[in-house]
Amino acid sequence: MRKPIMAGNWKMYKTPAETTTFFEKFLPLVEKSEHCEIVICPPFTDIAAAVTAVQGTRIGIGAQNLYWAKEGAFTGEVSGPMIKASGCTHVLVGHSERRQYFEETNETVLQRTVAALEAGLTPIVCVGERLGERESGETEAVLSLQFRAGIGLLSPEQFARIAIAYEPVWAIGTGKTATPEIAADAHRVLRAQVRGHYGAAAADAVRILYGGSVKPDNVRVLMAQPEIDGVLVGGASLDANSFASIVNF
Ligand code: 13P
Repeated sequence: MRKPIMAGNWKMYKTPAETTTFFEKFLPLVEKSEHCEIVICPPFTDIAAAVTAVQGTRIGIGAQNLYWAKEGAFTGEVSGPMIKASGCTHVLVGHSERRQYFEETNETVLQRTVAALEAGLTPIVCVGERLGERESGETEAVLSLQFRAGIGLLSPEQFARIAIAYEPVWAIGTGKTATPEIAADAHRVLRAQVRGHYGAAAADAVRILYGGSVKPDNVRVLMAQPEIDGVLVGGASLDANSFASIVNF
């Protein structure tokens, strides 16, 4: 059985003070939620407040991006060892907003994933097709390419330590959730790639999360799909009550 990961991606929202207030409300609501792993990915500037707030709990904190060099003259960048030393356990890699606005490619996704693993972080690597790609019937080809040219180049030992998030770009922040069937189909495509590259045991073990307009009122039907091993939530993870009801689906 794969233990679900219920992850929140706060994107560019909240100050440190707002982070502390969020956890004051959120922690009592998920005290007994042992059916899943909980991860929150705040902006870099909130990591210290978040790590302090979750001390002594099972909640993990993740960054939203990392640079692949360990240190150096790379103004504005943050490295894996720095994120790890700040108390994070996870890091998002290759989110579609990074691909769309910051020129992230399958190649840099791979470099960042390797850097995260070397730093001892669990990368949650994001893939997903755009609306035009889905409408022209290219979804499977896009997902397969994102896999083959990115995480499909990891060693089996490296691959065993990552999680994947399927986030169809057309469902992010639009209120258009993929139907559970559409999401499960995409997860099957990805799991088949994993099986082809790393074998049946790796395909059975890897956790594939769904992301894109996940809300308290649609999480249950999504999580009812055996293919869906958790969710990566944007907007609805900013509110403690709403994210707690997602965690406790
Ligand atoms: P929304 O839940 O706001 O659609 O965002 C999804 C997402 O991008 C999570 O990484």
